Amino acid sequence: METGLAQKVAVVTGSSTGIGLEIARGLAAEGARVVMSARGRERLEEARAALSAELSTPIAAIPADVGTAEGCAHLIEETRTRFGRIDVLVNNAGGAPGPAGFLNLADEDWQHAWDLNLMSAMRCSRLVIPEMQKQGGGRIVMISSTSAHQPDVVVCHYNAAKAALINLSKTLSNAFAADQILVNCVCPGLTRTPAVEASARVRLAEAGKPADGLSADEAVFAYYGPRRPIPIGRFGTPEEVAAIVVFLCSAQASWITGTCINVDGGWTKTIL
Ligand SMILES: NC(=O)c1ccc[n+]([C@@H]2O[C@H](COP(=O)([O-])OP(=O)(O)OC[C@H]3O[C@@H](n4cnc5c(N)ncnc54)[C@H](OP(=O)(O)O)[C@@H]3O)[C@@H](O)[C@H]2O)c1
Repeated sequence: METGLAQKVAVVTGSSTGIGLEIARGLAAEGARVVMSARGRERLEEARAALSAELSTPIAAIPADVGTAEGCAHLIEETRTRFGRIDVLVNNAGGAPGPAGFLNLADEDWQHAWDLNLMSAMRCSRLVIPEMQKQGGGRIVMISSTSAHQPDVVVCHYNAAKAALINLSKTLSNAFAADQILVNCVCPGLTRTPAVEASARVRLAEAGKPADGLSADEAVFAYYGPRRPIPIGRFGTPEEVAAIVVFLCSAQASWITGTCINVDGGWTKTIL
């Protein structure tokens, strides 16, 4: 099936590992000119080089902290300088910084979660939309979380920021549909990534059950297994999330905007 992604310029934030890396792989496999980005230069460059070699295609990497206004501006301006345009923006960078539980979270943790999960997407979108208007269209995909509408009590700052991200996505889809800028949101459920493995160890330690000696699998199952009984019977993979993102960026999704899609093995219990 022709996805129409060949030669499109696609920026994926937070793409040196995890879900973002698979989104970058999926878009590049469809022929897009992909710009990968993350803070850590070494891991980013390693991921870029490996992907580029695997797919025999040039892939760019621009280190940037999208949790700051300067980082967002650098990423978008540098992409424009190198490629002259941006057709696809995937706002993937995100996470749940700080300790578990409402009473343990400081103002700084809330601000960090807000900057990383919401402001990053708002700023990058604000920087690309005027050019997309001039170009006659574009695609923006926000990576939110099932925690936005089925909140996990451990990460309430993250839940709130991800819920705001869904709201922003809907607003932008309404505001810019006439410009053929299609804005959609994807909500992953528990997906096996380095972040999940690391958080399982941290949360177990916080609960007084250190995971020393446990493998990554054992730590993830020890912490998340009892808390996330997923109907399909397993956690998700980054590839399963990336597949829907690539679809939303493709020609096949040309009449889809303002939607929010769960990729969660049936975890979400509500119909909205
Ligand atoms: N995994 C899940 O179960 C799950 C579930 C629901 C939603 N999500 C969402 O899916 C997205 C990806 O999650 P993931 O599990 O793949 O995360 P991950 O494994 O922690 O990867 C995060 C990526 O983002 C980069 N990053 C982190 N902070 C950044 C910043 N300030 N600026 C730029 N890049 C930054 C990281 O590289 P550096 O550290 O080098 O910057 C890395 O490349 C996030 O928005 C997350 O909230 C994940």
